[in-house]
Amino acid sequence: MVRETRISADDFIMPLFVRPGTGIKNEIKSMPGNFQFSVDTLVEETRELEAAGVPGVILFGIPDHKDAAGSEAYSENAIVCQAIEAIKKACPALCVITDVCLCEYTDHGHCGVVMENRDGQPDVDNDATLPLLVEEALAHARAGADMVAPSDMMDGRVLAIREALDEALFTDVPIMAYSAKFSSAFYGPFRDAAESPPQFGDRASYQMDPPNIREAMREIQLDIEEGADIVMVKPALAYLDVIREAYHEYEVPLAAYHVSGEFASIKAAALNGWIDEKRAALEVLTSIRRAGAKMILTYWAKDAARWLAEG
Ligand code: PBG
Repeated sequence: MVRETRISADDFIMPLFVRPGTGIKNEIKSMPGNFQFSVDTLVEETRELEAAGVPGVILFGIPDHKDAAGSEAYSENAIVCQAIEAIKKACPALCVITDVCLCEYTDHGHCGVVMENRDGQPDVDNDATLPLLVEEALAHARAGADMVAPSDMMDGRVLAIREALDEALFTDVPIMAYSAKFSSAFYGPFRDAAESPPQFGDRASYQMDPPNIREAMREIQLDIEEGADIVMVKPALAYLDVIREAYHEYEVPLAAYHVSGEFASIKAAALNGWIDEKRAALEVLTSIRRAGAKMILTYWAKDAARWLAEG
């Protein structure tokens, strides 16, 4: 009765990885219990998620072929588009969100187009990247995505995507912006999962410096001004103060991404018998909710939904 914060399955969004093929369910080594799926096995998984009460998923594509421009991100037959169509057919009520970014699709592993900068060094080109992100978001919307989530951190991408969606009459497709996305050590296992480690340099030029909270607020503010419907803080646990501040500062719905490395750390300890996974997971998820995030992107979505149902 006096419990101030409750989490429920309704708060969770499950990240899922999809690649071309059939019958594929490859466990991701650094993320036990998570898999790279093909579209057919992915659909089985989404049925289970829906049955467990999880209302949404976010899709990441792993193409067979990566190139400099990340063209599999926005091609006619993009793997994520195939996945959206299949999921919407099998589970029409499930909210299908798509990650909009190039890093899973580029051979260099960066989130945008790489060009030579004025010092002659390879560098991500913000403005050359925007039209490709727009194409990717449009492809997802055409395939039936319920929401798009740009995670690239290029400046101006929310506005560019919003304008293009509106122009194509996808006015009802909201944008969940990865707004305060920090340059974090906790993305390591994801890069295994998506086979997308940067081949040179790092992502620090377009991801945020962990010590900066005022910069995070500025990024969130800008995304809201550009038309973001939901803003996200990522990672979650090391940034609970950022979540809290954003919760107080802004009225748009707030999401937090409890990322791969945060999940993997506890999972590894649990598999060693050093920590009680269920208790630790529910405690962590509750803390993210308590800090102010309404939506939590978490690799525990299915398990946590079942644990909560068990009581
Ligand atoms: C970029 C993206 C990343 C994650 C989600 N979207 C990787 C990165 O920014 O390096 C990481 C999520 C996780 O670690 O679970 N497309």
